[in-house]
Amino acid sequence: MIKPIRKAVFPVAGLGTRLLPATKTMPKEMLTIVDRPLIQYAVDEAREAGIEQMIFVTGRGKSTLVDYFDVSFELEATMEKAGKSLEPLAPTKVRNGEIVSVRQQQPLGLGHAVWCARDIVGDEPFAVLLPDDLMVGQPGALKQMVDAYAEMGGNIICAQEVAADKTSSYGIITPGETRGTATEVFGLVEKPKPEDAPSRLGVVGRYILQPELMDILGKGERGAGGEIQLTDGMAQLIGKQPFHALKVDAVRHDCGDKAGFVLANLALALDRADLRPRIEEFLASRG
Ligand code: G1P
Repeated sequence: MIKPIRKAVFPVAGLGTRLLPATKTMPKEMLTIVDRPLIQYAVDEAREAGIEQMIFVTGRGKSTLVDYFDVSFELEATMEKAGKSLEPLAPTKVRNGEIVSVRQQQPLGLGHAVWCARDIVGDEPFAVLLPDDLMVGQPGALKQMVDAYAEMGGNIICAQEVAADKTSSYGIITPGETRGTATEVFGLVEKPKPEDAPSRLGVVGRYILQPELMDILGKGERGAGGEIQLTDGMAQLIGKQPFHALKVDAVRHDCGDKAGFVLANLALALDRADLRPRIEEFLASRG
C-alpha cells in the first residue's frame, strides 16, 4: 500500500547570504518574481500536487512568511472601502491549518531543518520543497513526482544534469539503472569537488521522502560544511527502501543566486501576455 503525500516541509530558515544586501531584513523567500514572492510559487506547486498541509520551518526574522498567508484585515477593509477588488489577494488565502510553522532554533543545516518538522510530519511520507529552486513546468515538478511516486513508492528526489564544474553546489547522485525519466539511486554525496563527483546528476530542491528519514536525521551526524545534511540522511536509506531520482519536465531557476533570480524574473515576465510586449521591446532596444 502506497501512502499518499499529504504534507510538505518548506525549509525557510536560511539567511540568504548569497542575495545580500537584499536579504538583510527581507527573507529571500519573500523576494518577488514578477508580482509574487518566491514562497507563493512553492506553495502553489505543492497545492497542485495535492499537498494538504504545508509546514514552514522558519527562523528569526522570518515571520513575514507566515503573515503573508494570513488575513490582512486592515488592508482588506481599506481596499473594500475604496471599491478595489480583493482578487489580487486570492493566492494568499489559506484554509485554516493549511500552513503551520515550526522554528529551527539553530542554523545546523538542511537536514536539521527538515528534522525540526518531525512531530508535525509524523509517521507518513512527505515532500520537501526548497523555494529558492523555482520550478516552472506543466504540471508542476512536485505533481510530476507525486504521479511517479504513485507507481514506484519509496523515496524520489528531483534531479538534473549540472555543469561539470558546479558539482560542489549540489547533492550528487551515483546512478544505477535508468528507466524512462527515473534512475535508481545507488549513492548520494553532498557538494563533491568535480574530481570526486560520481556523476553530473545533481539533486534539485524537490523531494518525496519516507518518515524513517527523521530518525536518521535525529542522530545529528555532521557532514559537508559541519552541517547536518539532508543528503547524508537520505544516503542512509539507500538499499533499505526504493530510492529513485526523477528528471522532471520543468525549467529550474536558482533564485538563491543573483543572476538566477534576475533570469527567473525575465523568463516569467516573458510568459505573461500583459508584460511580454514591453519587455521584448526593451530587450530589442538593447540589441
Ligand atoms: C541544497 C542541498 C543540495 C541540493 C540543493 C538544490 O543545497 O543541500 O543537496 O542539490 O539544495 O538546490 P543548498 O543550495 O541549500 O546549498
